[in-house]
Amino acid sequence: MGPRMAFMGLGEMGKAMTRNLHRDGNLTSPLTLWNRTKSTADAHGADLGDCKVAETVQEAVENSDIVWSCLQDQSAVEQVFDSILAANVDITGKLFVDSSTIAPEWSNATAKRVIEAGGEFVSMPVMGEPVVAAAKKLICIPSGKPESVDRIRPYLEGV
Ligand SMILES: NC(=O)c1ccc[n+]([C@@H]2O[C@H](COP(=O)([O-])OP(=O)(O)OC[C@H]3O[C@@H](n4cnc5c(N)ncnc54)[C@H](OP(=O)(O)O)[C@@H]3O)[C@@H](O)[C@H]2O)c1
Repeated sequence: MGPRMAFMGLGEMGKAMTRNLHRDGNLTSPLTLWNRTKSTADAHGADLGDCKVAETVQEAVENSDIVWSCLQDQSAVEQVFDSILAANVDITGKLFVDSSTIAPEWSNATAKRVIEAGGEFVSMPVMGEPVVAAAKKLICIPSGKPESVDRIRPYLEGV
C-alpha cells in the first residue's frame, strides 16, 4: 500500500499538478483535495473522479501521509501552516512538500516548525507555467533531508 496523498491549493498550478498525480502517480488510495474555496475542490474532484474532498485543512492532513501544497504566496502558506500546527493534529512522520513560490527564509521557517512538531518538510519550488505542468515538463527543485526528498521522488519523474 503506497502513501496516502493530499494536495492543498487548487489554483492553475495545483489543478494541473493534481491531474498528473491522479493520472500517472500510481496512487494506491484516492487523492485528497483541499482548497480554501471548497467549491473549486468539489468541481476539480468531480472532474478527476475517484478523489476525496476535505472539508478542512486539518482533515486533509489527518488522513494523509504526504501533504503537497501549491499556494499563492507567503501569506497563504503562513496561514495554512498556522492552522495545521495550531490544531491538535498529530503530524508525526507526515511529509509536507511545498511548491509555492516563497522566499527561502520562509521555507526554512516553515520547515523548522514542521520538523519541531515531528513532521518532515521538503521545499520544492516549480518552474514552468500551468501549460508546462499539463505537459508533465515542470522543473521541480526539491530540497530537504535526503530521506524526505526520496519520499517525493516517485511522484516527480514521469508525473
Ligand atoms: N502560474 C504559474 O505560471 C506559476 C509558475 C511557477 C510557480 N507558480 C507558483 O505556484 C503557486 C500557485 O500559483 P497558481 O498559478 O496556481 O496561483 P492561483 O491560480 O492564483 O491559485 C492560488 C491558490 O492559492 C490559494 N490561496 C490563496 N490565498 C490563500 C490563503 N490565504 N489560504 C489558503 N489558500 C489560499 C487559492 O485558493 P482560492 O481558490 O480559495 O482562492 C488558490 O488555490 C504560486 O506560489 C506561484 O508563484 C506559478
